[in-house]
Amino acid sequence: MKWRTYPEDVLPLWVAEMDVPLAGPVVRAVTDALRLGDTGYPAGTAYAQALAAFAGKRWGWSGLAVERTAIVPDVMLGVVEMIKLVTGPGDPVVVNPPVYPPFFMFVEHMDRRVAEAPLGADGRLDFGVLEETFRKAVAGGRRAAYLLCNPHNPTGTVHTAEELSAVAGLAERYGVRVVADEIHAPLVLGDAGFVPYLSVPGAERGLSLMSASKGWNLPGLKAALAIAGPGAAADLDRLPEEVGHGPSHVAVIAHTAALRDGLAWLDALLAGLDTNRWLLADLLAEHLPAIRYRPGDATYLAWLDCRALGLGDDPADVFLERGRVALSSGLPFGTGGAGHARLNLATSKEVLARPCAEWRRRCAECGRTLVHCPPWTTGRWTNSARESTC
Ligand SMILES: Cc1ncc(COP(=O)(O)O)c(C=O)c1O
Repeated sequence: MKWRTYPEDVLPLWVAEMDVPLAGPVVRAVTDALRLGDTGYPAGTAYAQALAAFAGKRWGWSGLAVERTAIVPDVMLGVVEMIKLVTGPGDPVVVNPPVYPPFFMFVEHMDRRVAEAPLGADGRLDFGVLEETFRKAVAGGRRAAYLLCNPHNPTGTVHTAEELSAVAGLAERYGVRVVADEIHAPLVLGDAGFVPYLSVPGAERGLSLMSASKGWNLPGLKAALAIAGPGAAADLDRLPEEVGHGPSHVAVIAHTAALRDGLAWLDALLAGLDTNRWLLADLLAEHLPAIRYRPGDATYLAWLDCRALGLGDDPADVFLERGRVALSSGLPFGTGGAGHARLNLATSKEVLARPCAEWRRRCAECGRTLVHCPPWTTGRWTNSARESTC
């Protein structure tokens, strides 16, 4: 989607796909399965077991019980199913804008109501606002859910153990059910440590969604896991059986291999993302100092405050038209999104650093416009049909 949506002369730095060669263990596991003809329906709990082992190794969390997991088609469909388990039609779902736009789309599509509790100016949870939103959400005895994004897309905020305990305390006080989208959990950079929501005291009635999709660039291989805390096991038991028919067996194989054998690859990826976030900060300071960018502690998404550039509510639109660079518009991220754009920095250093005009040049011999193919494909200059080099 990232490289196919816009015309050839647009440099795409938008949707959350990474420009990386896949992890060797994933490629091997999938090709082995194809060679065997192992392309039937999924079975067993290998994915959950691999995630539990990964959680123990990476986050020191031993509380992920395989018997309290369920396989779901992907994280967003898992979010929908978890919210359905703990709320009814018309009930509110609290979110923290600016936040991943499908949080709004999916919640509204399933006949629930979004209640916004915006992040503070520092990009962290604002507990005063959150409490007030919880209080209003449950007024009149309504059931309510809180869709927490941990780590947070688009700011890259990694919630601390103290913050998550405070979330759990508030949720229990108001009877709000927490559903944590933890898809970006493997992508925590530098010294910031990821804390699984279900690992904090008081979070026993919480539900979480995890997947290898973002960490290992597998969004085209659909499979994710729903995880229940001990106090939510009975809720997860009510998950309709047919939800588990959605994920693909080959995807389950890929995700399992990533979590089990893809740790060295992940470490190398994280080192690259760490370099890129500081490279982007340096480039912006040099070329566009009016843009405010606080490198996040997680994800590969950079949330750019472009308001001082005076480009209006949707600077991404101007960047696309004038600069031929595709970023994500900040507007669909909800309150706090106007004047912002999200940039995907999971690409090569050359792509980030090279002035855009240098991605296009004219062939000296025939005068055709040539575009530079991304280095992980051919890395060569080709004509716009990408058929042959000039
Ligand atoms: C916070 C968050 N949740 C969910 C998703 C989508 O996950 P899936 O494709 O598994 O539904 C993304 C994708 O970027 C995301 O950033």
